[in-house]
Amino acid sequence: ASAGEIRAALLRWYSGVQEARGMPWRKPFDPSLGPHERSQRAYEVWVSEIMLQQTQVATVIPYYNRWMEKFPTLTHLASATVDEVNALWKGLGYYSRASRLLSGAQKAVQLYGGKLPDNAKDMEANIPGIGRYSAGAICSIAYGERVPVLDGNVNRLLSRLLALYAPPKAKATLDVLWEAATVMMTSIERAQHPGDINQALIELGSTICRVRDPLCDSCPIKQWCTAYTSAKDSSPQMVGDI
Ligand code: ADE
Repeated sequence: ASAGEIRAALLRWYSGVQEARGMPWRKPFDPSLGPHERSQRAYEVWVSEIMLQQTQVATVIPYYNRWMEKFPTLTHLASATVDEVNALWKGLGYYSRASRLLSGAQKAVQLYGGKLPDNAKDMEANIPGIGRYSAGAICSIAYGERVPVLDGNVNRLLSRLLALYAPPKAKATLDVLWEAATVMMTSIERAQHPGDINQALIELGSTICRVRDPLCDSCPIKQWCTAYTSAKDSSPQMVGDI
C-alpha cells in the first residue's frame, strides 16, 4: 500500500469527524497568512497542545477559551506572573505545564521579539517546554510544515498498522515509529495537509484505535492495518498496547 492511499482515506474520515467535533483551536490552515498571523496561530495551537497533553478535549475547551481571553498573545503571556497562569490552570492538574508555557513565552520574547520560531527544528531547539511532539504538532497545524507527530495515540496506531510487537517506549521502537510517521508526510506523493494528517492520526488513535476494545470495524484504514488483517480473530488490542 502507498502512504498516499492511507493518507487519502485518513483525510476523508477526518473531514467527517472534524465537522462533528468543534474545537476552537482548529482553524483551517491558510497559506496566505503573514508571519505575524502565523506566529499567532502557532501560539494558539501551542496552548491547546499543552493543555491536551494530559487532558480530554471536552475538559480543555473552556480552559482554552479563558486562557485566550486573559492572554490573547504570546506577549501578553510573557508578562504574566506564575500565580496568574496557575490560577487559570486551576482544576486542569499537572501545573508544570502552565509554568512551561510561561517560560517558553518569555524565551520567545527574549530571542525573537515575541514571535515563535517559524519552523519545527528551531522551535524544538530554542523554546523550553517544546519537544519534538509539540514542535511537530504546532508547525504542521499552524505553518503547514511537513513534520510528523508521535504521541501515545499515534504510537499505538502505527504499531498496530505495522504489527510491530515491540516494547512501545524502547528507543529502537520510537526510532522506527518516528520514521514511519515521517514517511506518512514525505513519501513520494508528499502530504498536502500536514496538520490535518497529524490531527487525523491523533484523533483516530484516541477515538477508534483505542487501547482496549479498538473499534476496528469503523476504522478508515483497516484494510492497510497489519494487526487487523493478520490477527482479526485473535486480539489486535494486544499489539502496541500502551
Ligand atoms: N490531542 C492532542 N492534540 C490534539 C489535537 N490537535 N486535536 C485533538 N486532540 C488532540
